[in-house]
Amino acid sequence: MAEAGAAGTAAASGQAPGRQVGRVLGTQDATPLSFWVAIQSGAYLQLDDVVVTARALPGEATVLHSGVVTDVRARHEGAQFASDVFLIEEGVLPAEIQEVAEISVTRVDPELYVPPRPGAPARRAGGDERDAALYFDTMERRLPMGLGRDGVPVYLNFDFLDGSRGAHISVSGISGVATKTSFALFLLYSIFQCGVLGGRAANTKALVFSVKGEDLLFLDRPNTRLDDVGRDSYARLGLPAGPFPSVGIYAPPLAGDLTGRPDVRERTDGVQAFWWTLAEFCEQELLPFAFADAEDDRQQYTMVVAQVASMLRRSGSPAGTDGAWRVDTATLRTFADLVDLVTDKVTAEDTRAQWAGPVTGAGTVNAFLRRLRSAARALARLVRADLPAEAGRRVSTEGQQVTVVDLHNLPERAQRFVVGLLLRAETERKEAAGPGSLLFTMIDELNKYAPREGDSPIKQTLLDIAERGRSLGIILIGAQQTASEVERRVVGMSSIKVVGRLDPAEAGRSEYGFLPVTQRQRATIAKPGTMFVSQPELPVPLAVEFPFPAWATRPAEAGPAPSVGPGAVGTAGRTTGRSAGRTVSRTGGRTGGPGRQDPFAGIPHDPPPF
Ligand SMILES: Nc1ncnc2c1ncn2[C@@H]1O[C@H](COP(=O)(O)OP(=O)(O)O)[C@@H](O)[C@H]1O
Ligand SMILES: [Mg+2]
Repeated sequence: MAEAGAAGTAAASGQAPGRQVGRVLGTQDATPLSFWVAIQSGAYLQLDDVVVTARALPGEATVLHSGVVTDVRARHEGAQFASDVFLIEEGVLPAEIQEVAEISVTRVDPELYVPPRPGAPARRAGGDERDAALYFDTMERRLPMGLGRDGVPVYLNFDFLDGSRGAHISVSGISGVATKTSFALFLLYSIFQCGVLGGRAANTKALVFSVKGEDLLFLDRPNTRLDDVGRDSYARLGLPAGPFPSVGIYAPPLAGDLTGRPDVRERTDGVQAFWWTLAEFCEQELLPFAFADAEDDRQQYTMVVAQVASMLRRSGSPAGTDGAWRVDTATLRTFADLVDLVTDKVTAEDTRAQWAGPVTGAGTVNAFLRRLRSAARALARLVRADLPAEAGRRVSTEGQQVTVVDLHNLPERAQRFVVGLLLRAETERKEAAGPGSLLFTMIDELNKYAPREGDSPIKQTLLDIAERGRSLGIILIGAQQTASEVERRVVGMSSIKVVGRLDPAEAGRSEYGFLPVTQRQRATIAKPGTMFVSQPELPVPLAVEFPFPAWATRPAEAGPAPSVGPGAVGTAGRTTGRSAGRTVSRTGGRTGGPGRQDPFAGIPHDPPPF
C-alpha cells in the first residue's frame, strides 16, 4: 500500500526508484563504508536518499553496497577564480556543473568488504532494495515512525524498544519547534495501532505525564485540523487517522475546593482528581519524596527526613474513613496539620531526640523545617484527608490503555513528588505482575527529574527504570530540551535516540555524537515534524517526517468524541450524573464505558485500596 503512493511522487519527478542516478566517483577514494557518486545530468540526489550500487566479483556473488546520502555538493568544474562563475554563465569560459553525493554505507551484502568500483552505476533504491539498505527486511517486528524524504515509511525495530534487545527512547530538541512531545505521542499511537504488539496489546499500557498546559487532555478527541495530506500520511504508514481510543485522565484537585473537583479548565468531563491521603503518606513513609530537590541530597537534614518519616509511621494509626492519621491526640487531616505536629515534635525538648535523631543540632532541625514548610505549600493539594476518599482518586493504569496525569498546574516540587511516587508504584506493580506486559512511561522535561547533578529518590527510581526497565517491561520515553542536562546513564541506556530541531550550541555537544556532521547541522534548521532517529542496527540515523497529530492537542482542535458502545474501554473517571462536575463513579472509571449505567451507584464507597 504505502510503496505505491510514494513511488507516485518520485516517478512524477523522474526519480523513480531503481533508476540510475549516476556513477561511483573516481576522483575520491571509494571505501567499503563510504563512497561518492557523480550525479548524471537530469537526475538529482538529496540528503537521506537511499542509493545502491553493485560489484561483481569473480567467482563470488555480486556484492551490493547500499547506503544513505549524507552529503551533496555542486560545483563548476574548471573554474579557478570566484569571478569565473560570471564568465561561465556568459559562455566565455567552458565549464560544467557537477553534483556529487556522499553515500554512507549502511549495508554490504554479502559481507565482502570490498570497495565499490569507480564508474559503477548507482541507482536510487526502492522497494526491497530500500528495505534491505535500511534493514527493514530483517526487522521481525517493525514500528512505522514516519515517512522518509521519499514519502515511503521508515521503521523502527521494535526489538530495541520493548526490551527484547534494548529499550527506552530519548528525545531532544528546542521547546515548541522540535515537536518532541508530538513525536513521542505519535510513537505511542503507532505502537498501539500498528499491530506490532500482537497478543500483548491488551496488557500494554502507557503512562503520560503532562507538564505543558492542557495539551494532552484531548488525546481521545479527533483533530479537526488534520487535513487530507495528513490523512494520506497515516494511510501510507498503515495507521488509522484518529484519536487514541482508550484514555484516562487524572488531574490534581482544585485548590481551595472541598468537593474534590479536578483542577482543569478546558475540559469539564472525564477527568478524575487524584491525591494521596495522610494515612498513605505516613504509612508508606512518603516524606522523602517531598524532599526531592537536587540540593537535598547533600544536606544533613536528610537524616531528619528519614527519622521523621519513620516516626510518623510508627507512632500513628488511621483515623476515620477519609484517610486521616492520628498521632497521640492529634488527628492529621491536612498537610498543614502534619507540619504543625512535626514542628512540635522536632522542637520540643522531650520528643526531639526521638523524632529528629539523637545527635541532631538545632541548625539542622531548622533547615529541615524550612524545607518542610516550603514543601507544604506545594503538597497541600496532593496530600490530604479533608476530601471524601474514593477509590478513583488513585492514579491507575489499569482501566485504560493510555493514562494521562496532568501536572502542569503543580509547582515543580509537587510534580517531582507525583512522578516519583507513581513511577515507584508502577515499578512495584510490574515487578509483582511478572513479565509479559509492557508499560510505556512518557516523561517530558526529564532533566527536572533526572538531572545530571545531584541525587534524589526520583532520580534513583528513574535510574532503576533505565537499568532494569528492559527486564521489568517498563519503557521510558524521555524528552528534554538538552540531553546534556540529563543524567548520563539515563540517556546512555536509551537504545533509541531522537533529535528534532537543536540549538546550534547544543548540537556540538558530545551527547549528539551519534549524528553525522551534516545531520547535526541540519538539526539546527529542522522543521516541526522532522526528526532524526538513531537505532542500534543502523549506522546512520534516519530522517523521518511524522504526520500531524490525528488527536486534538487543544480544545480548539477537538472534534466530537467518537461514539463508544457499551463495554468499550473509554475515558477513565467518567462522571455518573456529573454531580457538581465531580466524578462519582464508584469504580473510579476503571471499568465500563461512558454510556454504561454504573451498577454500583448508590452503594457507599469502600475505603481504598478497593
Ligand atoms: N508532524 C508535525 N508537523 C508539523 N507541526 C507539528 C507536527 N506535530 C506537531 N506539530 C506542531 O508543533 C508544535 C510544537 O509541538 P510540541 O510537540 O509541543 O513540541 P515540543 O514538545 O518540542 O515543545 C505544536 O503546536 C504542534 O501542533
Ligand atoms: Mg513538549
